[in-house]
Amino acid sequence: MENNLYDFGMIGLGVMGSNFLLNMADNNYKVIGFDLDAAKTKKLEDEATKGTTVKGVTTLQEMVLQLDKPRRIMMLVPAGKPVDDVINNLLPLVEKDDVIIDGGNSHYTDTLRRVKQLDEKGIHFMGMGVSGGEEGARRGPSIMPGGDISAWKRVKPMLEAVSAKVNGEPCVAYMGKDAAGHYVKMVHNGIEYAIMQLISEVYDLMKNLLDQSNNDLAKIFKEWNKEELESFLIEITSEIFLKDDDITGNRLVDDISDKAGSKGTGKWTSQDAMELPVSIPTIDAAVAMRTLSGYKDERKLASEIYQHEIKKIKHKQDHEIKKVKDALYFAMIIAYAQGLAMLNKASAELSMDISLADVVKIWRGGCIIRSSLLEVFYKALKKDKQLANILLSKNVAKLLSKNEKYIRSVINLAVKNKIPVTGLMSALGYFDTYCTERMPTNLIQAQRDFFGAHTYERIDKEGKFHTEWHEEVVQADKKHAETENPQS
Ligand code: 6PG
Repeated sequence: MENNLYDFGMIGLGVMGSNFLLNMADNNYKVIGFDLDAAKTKKLEDEATKGTTVKGVTTLQEMVLQLDKPRRIMMLVPAGKPVDDVINNLLPLVEKDDVIIDGGNSHYTDTLRRVKQLDEKGIHFMGMGVSGGEEGARRGPSIMPGGDISAWKRVKPMLEAVSAKVNGEPCVAYMGKDAAGHYVKMVHNGIEYAIMQLISEVYDLMKNLLDQSNNDLAKIFKEWNKEELESFLIEITSEIFLKDDDITGNRLVDDISDKAGSKGTGKWTSQDAMELPVSIPTIDAAVAMRTLSGYKDERKLASEIYQHEIKKIKHKQDHEIKKVKDALYFAMIIAYAQGLAMLNKASAELSMDISLADVVKIWRGGCIIRSSLLEVFYKALKKDKQLANILLSKNVAKLLSKNEKYIRSVINLAVKNKIPVTGLMSALGYFDTYCTERMPTNLIQAQRDFFGAHTYERIDKEGKFHTEWHEEVVQADKKHAETENPQS
């Protein structure tokens, strides 16, 4: 070392934190990590690549004192109180101009509060989404930093070095002001929920209706991953079907409980979409279905009451499976479209200046929702930066139009045979509604005005209008009766 100081410090040496740090060390940065647990600091040092500079310490002070100034410190700790605790412990130790990065899945409103809190002390706080799981952190994640632009410039070379690369381009970019980094990560996770829900639905359909074995499913997903559906989630799905369970000897997937867990980021996406407001029904459906998966006892009872049996289809399976692939492709596009439309709206509402082209560019590699579709969206958004919804791109429209009949057909098949496809249906419902110039919501407006005098707007003149509906309906009825029966 030229001096005895380290370039970058990490707080929290769980797998994500230590992998991120080891990745940084592999890129020739001198790194130091802090964790109260001495076993973790030792593990960090043991796992370091030979010739790299990696140190683990068990007090925060030791770490801060050994960092080059202005310091660059990142934390990867659970969201919520632990982040505030770390900040409070750091505050007496850090100085003006130091950069503190929260790389966890914090709620963006917490990040907003922390940016302000630290800004008052002259410390730069950045909320930064990191996606890619443990392997991504070690080999190259997708990184979504936001907040103070001057702080971003100071960490940019390091983050570019550790991030995933696509066509030589790093999967990291400045996402925007304030809490933009965490906002983008939240929506990333919302899309992640939606795609996982859609994949689980087509799995259900192919396994329980089209009678595909785990080996068949592994093959199908492997093939799909070579074509337009190429993506991380499709790839890992094909591998999942082949894993044996050490305990029972069955395929592990069959021995896993169907109650889905969640850490909350999908729910946050739905909650915030309602606040904005923006419509993301496929993400909402994914959150709702995870919730319903927890109601196991009630579902068991209901399945007995309603005799919810599924009769397998033994013919024309290949033909149907091809359609299932195209339906999934269609729905996946819609899931991305909803998430990106949400980012577009949120960026304007919260003045975050998020560039959607940059978002899809850095999602092309490293992250959980990486897929070849993102290249299509990147091209569309580079061409038209103002695109409110990627469904309005001509190239995306071509893809959807080509596959539209298949999603209709697959939903038909599922509905007829009692396979729940709430995600697929929500995607098609969103598409059909988005493509409808005149929705039937005029009737809702009339009802609102009828029972609550909420007023309505007219199609032929400006302003708000209210009608005394009941009186007018009575009069109209009377008039109608008179014309029908003039003698009475
Ligand atoms: C990622 C993931 C990750 C997420 C987990 C768990 O991008 O690497 O999104 O950040 O926290 O996948 O999410 P749930 O527990 O909510 O499913």
